[in-house]
Amino acid sequence: MKERLVSGIQATGKLTLGNYIGAIKNSLELQEKYQMMIFIADLHTITLPISKEELAKNREEVFALYLASGIDPEKSIIFYQSDVQEHTTMNWYVLVNTTMGELSRMTQFKDKSNKVKLENGTYSIPTGLLIYPTLMAADILLYNPKVVTVGIDQTQHVELTRNIALRLNKKYKMNFNNVETHIPKIGAKIMGLVDPTKKMSKSNSNLNDSIFLLDDPNVAYKKILKAVTDSENKVYISESKPGILNLLTIYSCLTDTTLEETEILFKDKNYKEFKEAVALKVKEFLTDLQSKYQEARKKVNYWAKIGQNKAQKIAQNTIIEIKKGMGL
Ligand code: TYM
Repeated sequence: MKERLVSGIQATGKLTLGNYIGAIKNSLELQEKYQMMIFIADLHTITLPISKEELAKNREEVFALYLASGIDPEKSIIFYQSDVQEHTTMNWYVLVNTTMGELSRMTQFKDKSNKVKLENGTYSIPTGLLIYPTLMAADILLYNPKVVTVGIDQTQHVELTRNIALRLNKKYKMNFNNVETHIPKIGAKIMGLVDPTKKMSKSNSNLNDSIFLLDDPNVAYKKILKAVTDSENKVYISESKPGILNLLTIYSCLTDTTLEETEILFKDKNYKEFKEAVALKVKEFLTDLQSKYQEARKKVNYWAKIGQNKAQKIAQNTIIEIKKGMGL
């Protein structure tokens, strides 16, 4: 039996190139080695307000993008989190084994709760933001994987999951693995195009900051040409050139080359030539992905049902075990 891998993406907005590189491509590389459990975290999505139309559209899009990217539903189990009720049951078992202190110390909780400051200066923090990581821990523990694939921003949540696993193992005689975090060697944090000091994000209101996987490839091309860099006009790897480093990273990820190889390729080019080459790669990548996406959409419902059944079987066993351990 293959060991398992778990990965998930929220259905908050349109998927970005960051999501692709940090989560999808990162998982694709391990598809043969592990039994992959890959899902759409639609229960996480409702921790912040979203209309039902948008949620329905986004979750189907993410599913189809998994398929279009090459996640093979014959080999991997692709499913909607909300289709497997065991996630919410497990969330409760995890939640009652955490403290307010450890949850409120999570960086993402602090960041996101700062953003819900009301005009009168007070905060109205949804409880879901606080308990977001317990549901994520539940998502992982239900399938007891060896590996979780994430971008760098999620590593703290996986760390918390490890602590919770140890706690549950000791208290209820469970056998949860000490799960490993698999982050990509390059591209663990793709940065914004307008502000390359901040993560490229699905929820950024400035649409030029992100490449969306369903962007018109010509629009994406132009976004790369407009990406913020610096005035030096010399292409090389340096932390003090975040815009250039980000474009080098994107090019390397899309061509499966190292940063150093990409640097050599462009060392004698000016920014215009460099950006045009990156933009072309992005355009080609999106064109290819989107040509598969239309076909993939038609197959979503079929594979979602199969994914649900397979995931549920595994999840049910974990629930039976932990209930036994708890005395329920
Ligand atoms: P989410 O939906 O914010 O992001 C999905 C995945 O994409 C990665 N990612 C990035 N990687 C590189 N560069 C970026 N700019 C970038 N932006 C996002 C994220 O690190 C993540 O891997 N809580 C998770 C979803 C989740 C999950 C899970 C993941 C729920 N349960 C269990 C793994 C296992 C989230 O909000 O990801």
